[in-house]
Amino acid sequence: MQILNRRPRRNRATGAIRAMVQENTLSVNDFIFPMFVQEGTGAKVEIKSMPGIYRFTLDMLLEELKEVQSLGIKSICLFPNYPESKKDKYGSESLVSDTLYLKALSQIKSKFPDLVIMTDVALDPYSSDGHDGIVENGKIVNDETVEILVKMSIAQAKAGADIIGPSDMMDGRIGAIRKGLDAEGFTDVSIMAYTAKYASAFYGPFRDALESAPKFGDKKTYQMNPANIKEAILEAELDFAEGADIMMVKPAFSYLDVIKALKENFNIPISAYNVSGEYAMIKAAAQNGWIDGDKAMMEMLLSMKRAGADIILSYFAKEVAVLLNE
Ligand code: PBG
Repeated sequence: MQILNRRPRRNRATGAIRAMVQENTLSVNDFIFPMFVQEGTGAKVEIKSMPGIYRFTLDMLLEELKEVQSLGIKSICLFPNYPESKKDKYGSESLVSDTLYLKALSQIKSKFPDLVIMTDVALDPYSSDGHDGIVENGKIVNDETVEILVKMSIAQAKAGADIIGPSDMMDGRIGAIRKGLDAEGFTDVSIMAYTAKYASAFYGPFRDALESAPKFGDKKTYQMNPANIKEAILEAELDFAEGADIMMVKPAFSYLDVIKALKENFNIPISAYNVSGEYAMIKAAAQNGWIDGDKAMMEMLLSMKRAGADIILSYFAKEVAVLLNE
């Protein structure tokens, strides 16, 4: 017999002991459920690459929200799907006062006043180029785009948004949006900055949901290079200084080190976006019987908490809530 005064297995001996010494946990309070709204009535369209996730017409979305809330989920992040006919170079549809997205925000707010509504600020759902900013001569122009993003943010705040979510990665937009919101009296509307958003292959299923894939090129001149972490700190320094209330890392699973770095260096909440491709991978493998979907989901999400995420945006939110409520 070995003489060991430290045997870590003692703390793993029974389920009760393991539970007692567990360092990190998931709670339904941590989650924001991303949802998709489309035009029309009476429809709920499953996204092929995201089994279990739907685009809802507004009437159906309002029905779905009753279930979402009854599961204890307190926050959603809404994204719109628009037909090509509504898209143009400047994303003009985003500012039309009775456009689907703004109408959806205000109806959700009036029917579910306690639900936290996070929005999406970027041109891509409305852009005929499928880019997050205005395209001039093949380039995504920064400052002109930011002017539109500020107007979008104010329109969304007027419609009832609690948290503005700029997902575009233009330079200087957090400060500009903060100034714009404050000037209109929306000092209480927060900003969750997509601070370290990488040019990732894991957004594919989301672009299916929005039918928003870029018409040419890629997003590498504004989204970050997956090889970089110092640059994430720089982005965070800027967003922090510009007034971000919460800073996000996206995607989450391949970027746990980035979550940790932001958590250690900044004293505001850090969120992680468990993106569409991460969801799709688990669903696909589980459907094939290759992994246990529920266990893989919980392990993946817990790793984000362990890395330091305070908040997780995830398409798994409902499924997690069901498991946590058991
Ligand atoms: C675009 C946007 C993307 C996502 C959220 N907002 C994709 C992209 O940058 O092309 C991805 C979310 C996901 O994959 O779940 N503004």
